[in-house]
Amino acid sequence: MKRRFIKKDGIHRRLEGWPLVFTVLTTIAILVGGLVEFLPLILVKGSVDKIATVEPWTPLELEGRDIYIAEGCNTCHSQMVRPFRHEIERYGEYSKAGETVYERPFLWGSKRTGPDLARVGGKYPHLWHVRHMENPRSTSPNSIMPPYPHMLENDLDLSDLPTKLKRLRMLGTPYSDDEVQNAIEIAREEAEAIAREVEAQGGPEGLETKQIVAIVAYLQRLGTDIQTTSTAGSGASSAPEDVNASR
Ligand code: HEC
Repeated sequence: MKRRFIKKDGIHRRLEGWPLVFTVLTTIAILVGGLVEFLPLILVKGSVDKIATVEPWTPLELEGRDIYIAEGCNTCHSQMVRPFRHEIERYGEYSKAGETVYERPFLWGSKRTGPDLARVGGKYPHLWHVRHMENPRSTSPNSIMPPYPHMLENDLDLSDLPTKLKRLRMLGTPYSDDEVQNAIEIAREEAEAIAREVEAQGGPEGLETKQIVAIVAYLQRLGTDIQTTSTAGSGASSAPEDVNASR
């Protein structure tokens, strides 16, 4: 009886009768399929959309990015302009995959309690950001963004920067030996330049050792690596009155 059953229904029917073997074989089949899809993405360099003008974060920007993550700014702000007309008119050129090749972890996000920040770099002067972080309602009446006045008081801790750059280099970000070794000095110089500009714009003095300069460095870089075709969202306006209009 049994033999005839097998003959009639073939090998597949027999396999289905062995749940364990069948499960193992199915798993292998799925894994092979997965690898065929996945491996080229890691192994073939051309599968990553590189853009020649996109550069890794400078040391101070990287530190600012870490503060951004630590403060949870990404829970309210996305960093991805979607390729829809209403988004492009509001924020500027839509985001390209190649713009985030050095993002670890990426901060694209999908929830916007505040506006998208992917193209905020250059939209406002440094001092605007200092004032906005200290008290968002001073630049944007009715803003529901929380104030971060401690950023103007807390000292910037740059001591981990060489390690951070080294780790990112291990993951493929092309930092040079010089950048890794001198990360702290490079960051200090950047901080100095931003602090001087804030002073020149009539802002508070002595911010070069504070967290705020790192956040400003980071925000001012966002979305500026590629030439945008639309003027909305980048460099177009620096008037504080525009804030609500751009929300
Ligand atoms: C509770 C949600 C929330 C959090 C958290 C938050 N924001 Fe905002 N953010 C907003 C809202 C709402 C606005 C729009 C009103 C305004 O300009 O303040 C905004 C506006 C901004 C703008 C101006 C954008 C533009 O195009 O005009 C910047 C820059 C910004 N936030 C940076 C930050 C940073 C940096 C952090 C973290 C330190 C942060 N935000 C945390 C809600 C938030």
